[in-house]
Amino acid sequence: MTTEPISANAVIGADHPNDGRPGLVDPFGRHVSYLRVSVTDRCDFRCVYCMSENMTFLPKRDLLTLEELNRLCSAFVGRGVRKLRITGGEPLVRKNILWLMKSLGCHLETGALDELTLTTNGSQLPKYAADLAACGVKRINISLDTLNAGRFKEITRWGEFSTVMDGITAAEKAGIAVKINAVALKGVNEDEIEDLVRFAHGRGADLTLIETMPLGDIDGDRTDQYLPLSIVRARLMDRFTLEDIPYRTGGPARYVHVKETGGRLGFITPMTHNFCESCNRVRLTCTGTLYMCLGQDDAADLRVPLRASSDDAPLLAAIDQAIARKPKGHDFIIDRRTKKPAVSRHMSVTGG
Ligand code: GTP
Ligand code: 5AD
Ligand code: SF4
Repeated sequence: MTTEPISANAVIGADHPNDGRPGLVDPFGRHVSYLRVSVTDRCDFRCVYCMSENMTFLPKRDLLTLEELNRLCSAFVGRGVRKLRITGGEPLVRKNILWLMKSLGCHLETGALDELTLTTNGSQLPKYAADLAACGVKRINISLDTLNAGRFKEITRWGEFSTVMDGITAAEKAGIAVKINAVALKGVNEDEIEDLVRFAHGRGADLTLIETMPLGDIDGDRTDQYLPLSIVRARLMDRFTLEDIPYRTGGPARYVHVKETGGRLGFITPMTHNFCESCNRVRLTCTGTLYMCLGQDDAADLRVPLRASSDDAPLLAAIDQAIARKPKGHDFIIDRRTKKPAVSRHMSVTGG
């Protein structure tokens, strides 16, 4: 894969001129152009760093309908959001999800949206990849923390390695560019990072490595799992030549070009290097709660204004008020003394 220089207008969802439409700007002058939408908190896996095995999920009656989610997302697009990422839990276990994808895909056709994409564990991609491509999905992030089937079972508890591999192949066949996400886990997959780089780049996929974040109670101790990416990067430099590149996707990853493989490798470092100064995103949960920061508890209820009127005015006012409260950033700590997670809700509620 080549890493040609990326021009400024290839930056997706970041500081895009809003075609004359009023944009969402927070108190720190950051343009909010990226909405992440968790369409369900449910998942068919139980990854050890994400959930406990006996997770309690939201009652289904609390969920927004797909029509309501569509209306909410469209309101954000109307206010200048250029990039929508559908997440979960596992977004593709939500019933009729293709209806929502198809509806949101219309904003790509009008040019109001630059990108419609998903973050998925890959389990449903053999079934859905071709349909997603038809909805306008051009890029997809698939979580894969190991290439060892036994280890995959240990990490995901309920996942099936071969199904996810089939999912990756299905996405590629459908013409969707794949980014592999791997959470770096001490003593679990740290010996495999080089293999993951070679695997992803061998298929023409980007790879991003992620530091585990203290979100929600899990069965184990996060201190045991936490592996700073500064260490991973130093180790990789014994094997590979890593060249910083300006490539951006609108997400928090900082990329390097790996000379030996010709591929792109991203580092997402919420723990060792806070990237909040360039934050351009907010998160909507499947119950219509808007979190202005992944690492803070403050949230705005959009379900009430959404249901209050078929006119969008109350909803748009609530969105503006929420953006005016967007905090400066998160404050994550993982150490032996800090037993409680930084925020009590799980990643699967806010969708990462
Ligand atoms: P692209 O850059 O568009 O490919 O997406 P992404 O990497 O931002 O999204 P993805 O859903 O693949 O998320 C990868 C990891 O980045 C997850 O662990 C997310 O929780 C994390 N992440 C994304 N945005 C933020 C953020 O604003 N703050 C923090 N702390 N983590 C984030
Ligand atoms: N810390 C970091 N990344 C996490 N993910 C899930 N939980 C955590 C956590 N606590 C990752 C998943 C997926 C992405 C959405 O977030 O592996 O790739
Ligand atoms: Fe499911 Fe993703 Fe959480 Fe794993 S990390 S349990 S795949 S939501």
